[in-house]
Amino acid sequence: VTIHRQDYAPPAFLVDRVGLEFRLDPAATEVRARLALRRNPAAAADAPLRLDGDGLALQEARMDGTVLPPERLVFGADGSLTIADPPASGLLETLVRIAPEANTSLMGLYTSGGNFYTQCEAEGFRRITFFPDRPDVMSRYTVTIHADRLRCPVLLSNGNLVEQGGEGATHWVRWEDPHPKPSYLFALVAGDLVSVSDRFTTRSGREVALHIWVRRGDESRCGHAMDSLKRSMAWDEEVFGLEYDLDVFNIAAVSDFNMGAMENKGLNVFNTKYVLASPESATDGDWQGIETVVAHEYFHNWTGNRVTCRDWFQLSLKEGLTVFRDQEFSADMGSRAVKRIRDVRGLRAAQFPEDAGPMAHPVRPDSYIEIDNFYTPTVYQKGAEVVRLIHTRIGAAAFRRGMDLYIARNDNQAVTIEDFVRAMQDASGIDLSSFMGWYDQAGTPEIAAEDRYDPAARRYTLTLRQQTPPTRGQADKRPVPIPVAMGLLGPDGREQPTRLASENAAQSGTRTLLLEAAEQSFVFEDVPAPPVPSLLRGFSAPVRLRGVPRDRLRFLAVHDTDPFVRWESGQQYAASVMLEMVAAQQRGEALGFDAALAEAVANTLAAADADPAFAAEALVLPGEGFLADQMEIADPVAIHLVRRHLRAEIGRRCGPALRATYDALADHGPYRIDGASIGRRALRNACLAYLTAAGDTALAKAQFDAATNMTDSLAALALLADGDGPAREAALASFHARWRGDDLVLDKWFAIQAMAARPDAIAQVRALQAHPDFDLKNPNRARSLIASFAAGNPSQFHDLSGEGYRFLADAVIALDPVNGSIAARLVGPLGQWRRQSAARGALMRRELQRVLDTPDLSKGTFEKASKALL
Ligand code: ARG
Ligand code: ZN
Repeated sequence: VTIHRQDYAPPAFLVDRVGLEFRLDPAATEVRARLALRRNPAAAADAPLRLDGDGLALQEARMDGTVLPPERLVFGADGSLTIADPPASGLLETLVRIAPEANTSLMGLYTSGGNFYTQCEAEGFRRITFFPDRPDVMSRYTVTIHADRLRCPVLLSNGNLVEQGGEGATHWVRWEDPHPKPSYLFALVAGDLVSVSDRFTTRSGREVALHIWVRRGDESRCGHAMDSLKRSMAWDEEVFGLEYDLDVFNIAAVSDFNMGAMENKGLNVFNTKYVLASPESATDGDWQGIETVVAHEYFHNWTGNRVTCRDWFQLSLKEGLTVFRDQEFSADMGSRAVKRIRDVRGLRAAQFPEDAGPMAHPVRPDSYIEIDNFYTPTVYQKGAEVVRLIHTRIGAAAFRRGMDLYIARNDNQAVTIEDFVRAMQDASGIDLSSFMGWYDQAGTPEIAAEDRYDPAARRYTLTLRQQTPPTRGQADKRPVPIPVAMGLLGPDGREQPTRLASENAAQSGTRTLLLEAAEQSFVFEDVPAPPVPSLLRGFSAPVRLRGVPRDRLRFLAVHDTDPFVRWESGQQYAASVMLEMVAAQQRGEALGFDAALAEAVANTLAAADADPAFAAEALVLPGEGFLADQMEIADPVAIHLVRRHLRAEIGRRCGPALRATYDALADHGPYRIDGASIGRRALRNACLAYLTAAGDTALAKAQFDAATNMTDSLAALALLADGDGPAREAALASFHARWRGDDLVLDKWFAIQAMAARPDAIAQVRALQAHPDFDLKNPNRARSLIASFAAGNPSQFHDLSGEGYRFLADAVIALDPVNGSIAARLVGPLGQWRRQSAARGALMRRELQRVLDTPDLSKGTFEKASKALL
C-alpha cells in the first residue's frame, strides 16, 4: 500500500493522557494501556476509532470500565483494532501480551543481552500496544514498570521518576513525562545496568541529573559521551537560547540497535558505537561520531520533541534541521573548514548517488510504502543543506530570530515544513516561498558559469546557469534559488573587492549571489584585470558545479582565500585527471601521470604545518564512489586500477617528502583527542597510505606493531589487509586475538576485510559469514561485513562473475525475515544497475528479481527491490 502526502487527514481521536503498565517478562510481557480519548473536533464526526497494532495478542478491552464485547472489536489484516460505536470521549483500557525475546526486528520492545529496550520511531509503538501511532497525536504519559528485582534492578522511561515500591522478588517504578509527546518518542529501558553520572545546571538554574546507562564493565568508556553531552547542552543555550526542560537526562547504550541513536524524550537510546570509547579501542573518527550523535539526539529535544512533525512526510522538518544544528555544533568545537569538507564528502558519497538513482526522492517525499526506507541521506543531509541555504540567504541573526519564532509559535505541536519556512520568512522579512522548490524537487541541480571581461570598460560579466536533471515522476524541474557564495581573484592570486553594477561601493571578501532563474548574469564594475571567479565558497548550495577549466582549478587550489574552494579545486582537478585516465584504461592505453598531481602533494606537504587536518583532507584522492558518480556508465574496476596506480606513482615521486612528514609527526606522548592531535594523526596516516602504495609495507607493519591507539592501529591494518602474504595474515590474526572480546572493535576487523580490494574478496566475505564471531542478527555486525563489502569495495562487489551481487542478495533474503529494516537498507547497492554496464546491469537485475521472488518479503525490502527494478 502506498501512502501519499496529499492524503493527510487529521486524526479521528485525540489521546490526552496515556497510562501504561508493564509487567516485564522476556517471553510474555503484559502491557496494560489506559487511553483518555476524545473525538478530534478537526476530524469528521463519524470517523472510526482505529488503533494501530502489529503482532499484539489482545487479552481484554474495556471502555469506561465495561468490557467490550467481541462484536465491537474489529481486527484488521494489518494488525489494527477498530472499536465499533465509540463514544465521543472515554477511557479505553486494553491488555496485550508481547514476547520481547522473540522480537528480532528490534522495533518495539525487545531484549538484548537479557535487558529490555524499545525503539518506536517511526512505527514501533504499535508493536507494544494498540494506539493511534502517528506523530500528530500528542499525549501526556505515565508509565509504571513492574519487573524482577534481580534481573531488572534498573527501570527507566521518559520524564521524571515519581514513585517506586514493591516488596519481595518484584519491584516497580513510575515515570511521568510532563511534556505531551507523540508515541514515537516513548521509551522503556530495563535491566541490569550501571550508570555513569554527572550534573548540568541550566542557565536559568535548573539542576539536571545526567546518566549514561551501560552494561557492567563499560563504565570507563563513557567519559567522552558525557563530556559531549554537557558541551551540547551549553552550546544550545548559547547559540539558540534553548534549555533542557526536565530534571533528568538519561542515555542508555545497547549493542543491538538498528540505527545510530534515538531521541526519546528524556531517555535517549544509543547504539553502543556512539557511546563507548577508549583510546585503545576507538578511532578518532569514532570520537567525532560520538560527539556528533550525542549532540544530534540532544538537540532533538527542541527540534523534534517539543516541536514535532505532523506526519512522516515532514521528517526532514526535524532531521534536516537537527543535522544542521549538529553540524554547526561540531564546526564550533573544532575546525569549521575541515568539518565542512567532511560533510560535503559525505553528502556526495551517499546523497548525490541516491538523488541520481532509483530511490531519488524530494527532501519532503510525496509517497512511500515503508517510512523506514525514507530515513535517507536526502531527508537528513540534503535536508540539512536546505536549512543551511536558508541560513545563508537570510543571515545568522535573522535565522536565530526565525528559530525563536518557530519555537514560540509551534511549541508542543506537530507541524509541517511550511511552518518552519514561514517562521524564517516572517523573522527575516525575506520572501522564501521559492525555497519550497528545494523541498519538493528531487535531483541534484547542476550549475555552470561563463564569464567575459571587457578591459576597456573594466567590466566583468559572470553568467550562471542552472538545471536539474529529471527524476522518476518529475520530468520537468523548475529553477530553485541557489545562493552562490563567491569572490574574485586577481591574476596575482589576491582577493579583489567586488562591486555589482547596482551598488555604490565595493565590498571586500566573500559575497553571495542569488541565482534564481535558469540563467542570470551578474555584472561587476571597476575590475582592473581579468579575474578568476571562486564560486560556491563553503559549498553554499548542494549542487554540482560543472565545467570549471583545469587551469582555474589549479589556480584556485593554490590561491583561494576560502579553504573549502581550495580543497574542492584540488579534488576536482584530480577527479578530472583520473576520469581521463579511466577512459585511457578502458581503451587499453598506458596510464600516464600528470606531474601536477605530485606537485600539489608536494605543496600540500610543504604547507601542512599550518593546518594538518586540512592537509590530510587535501592529500586524499577523490574516492572511487565519487568518480563513479561522475560517469554516465561507471567502470568500478578501471576506477580502482587508476586510483591504485596514481597512489603508487605519487608515493614514489613524493616518497622523501611523505616520509619526512610521516617521521616528523610521530607522537610519542599520551593519546589526546584535541583537534590538533587528530589532524596530525590524519595527516600522518595519509602519508603512510601513499608510502605503502609505493611498495613500502614494512612501515605499515611497524606502525601496526607499535600502535598504542586505535586510529594508528587500524590505519595500518587496513593497508596491510589490502596487500597479501604473511604480513596480512599475521596482522589480522593478532588483531583478532587481542580484540576478540570487544564487539565494536571486532566490527572493524570484519569491515576491514570486507573492504580489502583483493581478487578473493568474495570468497573472503563468504568465509567470514561463517566465522564464529559473525552474527547476522546483530545490525552492527551484519553491516560491518555485508554493507562494508557492497558499498565499500566497489571493484570486487562489481566483479563480472556476478558473485558479489549474489552474495548481497543471499544476505538480504536471509536477513529479511529476521530484521526487515536492516535487510531493506542493504538492497541499495543493487539499485545502481542503470549506472553500470549492460552485462553488470543484467546480473544485478537478476539478483533484485530473486529478492522480489522471495515469499513473505517485508514491505520495506519489497519497496526497495521493486523500485530499483522499475
Ligand atoms: N530519529 C533518529 C535520529 O535521527 C533516527 C530514527 C531512525 N528510525 C528509523 N526507523 N530508521 O537520530
Ligand atoms: Zn535525528
